[in-house]
Amino acid sequence: MAAPFDLTRLLPADHFDAALRHDVRTGLTADPKWLPPKWFYDARGSELFEQITRLPEYYPTRAERAILTARAAEAAAATRARTLVELGSGSSEKTRLLLDALRDLGTLESYVPVDVSESALREAGDALAAEYPGLAVHALVSDFTATLALPPTRGPRLVAFLGGTLGNLLPDERAAFLAALRRELEPGDSLLVGTDLVKDPAVLVAAYDDAAGVTAAFDRNVLHVVNRGLDADFDPDAFAHVAHWNAANEWIEMRLRSLREQTVKIRDLDLAVPFAEGEELRTEVSAKFRRRGITAELAAAGLELVHWWTDPEERFGLSLATPADRDGAARDAAAPGGDS
Ligand code: AVJ
Repeated sequence: MAAPFDLTRLLPADHFDAALRHDVRTGLTADPKWLPPKWFYDARGSELFEQITRLPEYYPTRAERAILTARAAEAAAATRARTLVELGSGSSEKTRLLLDALRDLGTLESYVPVDVSESALREAGDALAAEYPGLAVHALVSDFTATLALPPTRGPRLVAFLGGTLGNLLPDERAAFLAALRRELEPGDSLLVGTDLVKDPAVLVAAYDDAAGVTAAFDRNVLHVVNRGLDADFDPDAFAHVAHWNAANEWIEMRLRSLREQTVKIRDLDLAVPFAEGEELRTEVSAKFRRRGITAELAAAGLELVHWWTDPEERFGLSLATPADRDGAARDAAAPGGDS
């Protein structure tokens, strides 16, 4: 018998078009200029990211996989989850490590992959339904940074947010995202979140500026996305890829540096965007964490760290958290300085 698969679209049909218009207008009229990193991931960008994960310099994927390989059974036992929810599921073989552990424990019933890409969800859903007989797959097309509404599957639920993607949100966005996620969780549910860790800046910069130039192509891909989506005329070859370690904020910034003075036309926005020679457009922030910092951010959102796992070289961290007492930190986080 084929396992059940269903897909829910939480996004209005014009969501991406409207969001791209908004983000490009906001970011390219700002000083300094910036674009949100979510626009890297069209089909070509997703393929380039897959290539990045195999680069010798890009350790986070391998480090996180090593942690999951060592700790999935422990995570399963700690959560006894019936439902695995995965935010930003992509293609992910790491999912299988968690699914295997929950299946071996005997608690697994359903899998809820949440992603902005319907095609990625259908592909992954089909494959998993075939590999895990009896697993109910409820795919959710959603931009989880905008709205978060989990389907009513049976608890306990384990929400996995892997890959270090939390670090692509800015501090305010991270706080809002974690608080919104906390509001979706019920007692007994848990959150498993992967974060890249602070380390030698030379190692970090190399991971975001590889010798083969794959990350440079990934960075420039956002210009192709804007060209196609908004009828713009960026010349991607007129921009150089830059990976910069921002020591004060402990994050990597990817930037595109204009190689000459130029004006880019964004026809669908009726916008002309001037670039000075050497001017930089920020395309991504990738924050690096410390145990103390992530513990505090989770606590501020009403989440209590219950397990902290790293790879032997402490390059990457995996946090398992549960909802804190509703009358404590959760209320304080939901209504800072409030009168409730
Ligand atoms: C894995 C999506 C979090 O910030 O490391 C890889 C994406 N950017 N190389 C990261 C990325 C540049 C990435 N995430």
